[in-house]
Amino acid sequence: MDYIEIEGGVQLHGHVRVSGAKNAALPIMASLLLTTGETCLRNVPRVRDVVTFAQVLRALGAKIRTDGPELIVDTTAIDRFEAPYDLVKTMRASFLALGPLLARYGRARVSLPGGCAIGARPVNLHLKGLQALGARLELTQGYVNACADRLHGATIAFPTPTVTGTEHILMAAVLATGTTIIENAACEPEVVALAEALTRMGAHVAGAGSSRLVIEGVPRLEPAVHDIIPDRIEGGTFLVAGAITGGDVTIDHCRPVHLSALLDHLRATGAAVEVGDDWVRVIGTERASPSDLVTAPYPGFPTDMQAQMMALLTRANGRSVISETVFENRYMHAAELGRMGAEIHLEGADAIVIGVPQLYGAPVMATDLRASASLILAGLAAKGITTVSRVYHLDRGYEQIEVKLAALGAKIRRLP
Ligand code: EPU
Repeated sequence: MDYIEIEGGVQLHGHVRVSGAKNAALPIMASLLLTTGETCLRNVPRVRDVVTFAQVLRALGAKIRTDGPELIVDTTAIDRFEAPYDLVKTMRASFLALGPLLARYGRARVSLPGGCAIGARPVNLHLKGLQALGARLELTQGYVNACADRLHGATIAFPTPTVTGTEHILMAAVLATGTTIIENAACEPEVVALAEALTRMGAHVAGAGSSRLVIEGVPRLEPAVHDIIPDRIEGGTFLVAGAITGGDVTIDHCRPVHLSALLDHLRATGAAVEVGDDWVRVIGTERASPSDLVTAPYPGFPTDMQAQMMALLTRANGRSVISETVFENRYMHAAELGRMGAEIHLEGADAIVIGVPQLYGAPVMATDLRASASLILAGLAAKGITTVSRVYHLDRGYEQIEVKLAALGAKIRRLP
């Protein structure tokens, strides 16, 4: 297994181009099951999760080829309707094949995802929503067996906004008869990107970006060309890399409006932030100021940036309180940061971070995608050598992060 070695203490400088968003690419890939024909996806990040979803589509009969950052997907010959356990267990988003298969072909058999490193992550709201649209579901041997003649519109009120749950019901509803209303829908930019992609394919979706989506079902969708939006979490991770090293980093080809909550917090830690049309520049300080933060659904502070921000706050000049309200167990990185000299006390959903003047390099282990990113960031700021093992977590969602960081001046390399 590869690991990443970092010699910390170098201030990062320069520009880095943000890749396409994994969490926008995956649901859009799932939505291609709603059409028949060839689609071109542009600006697709070359990350492991995209490869895994391509395997899911291939297992269903799709033909896929890549051309640089373009993915060409042909769904003409979908003739299998099962997403197997092996693929769903490696990536939960594979579960998103269920709704589109059901809407387009009237049947699907998809493995239940199970728990994961950041919490229980049930899919009960996905299943209840599909049932409300008329799906008949049976759970057997760890699989959801689903069938329906044609789905029909319904009103679905989520008790809590769920990102992939909203995306799942949205995809199923576009081909249903009548009107579907999703109340308390997730407002994340990735949900909006999916709604826009479906609209390009001929769907009628109103309210994307608000908490109420109204979908008028149509009989069929046509293939279209889609540009994947820039990855706000990848971009945000590079901004924290600039801040944590006291450097000067500009991310290019991003959508600053998607980063507002993060930029507010970076400013609160004392970093200077400049914002352009499609770029953001962060100039870090020698030591950050402490700052409390609470994760929340968009437009709140993203849970997917919590671990990276924690890395920054470990070196702050005082005490910060982080409250994780989205997932119940998303502090696996705290103990690993502790191995580098950070002082973090976990109290239920809160992490009390007492800033220390210096982190020290250490061997650490990645436990999930964003936790891995926080360890890399801590390693960039630490004195001495940090090795991060289990980097396959990182490869799921970051495109060549070590290459991009090295281009900013970091002393970082991947070793087998
Ligand atoms: N929830 C339920 N029941 C459900 C669905 C969700 O109780 O049926 C709960 C979850 O357990 C959680 C809360 O609702 O407590 C919100 O979870 P959500 O469903 O919004 O998360 P998700 O859709 O499974 C997506 C991203 C995650 C990101 C979260 C929150 C994708 C593929 N994944 O997950 O991304 O953390 O939204 O923004 O879009 C990552 O990229 O590292 C990552 C984990």
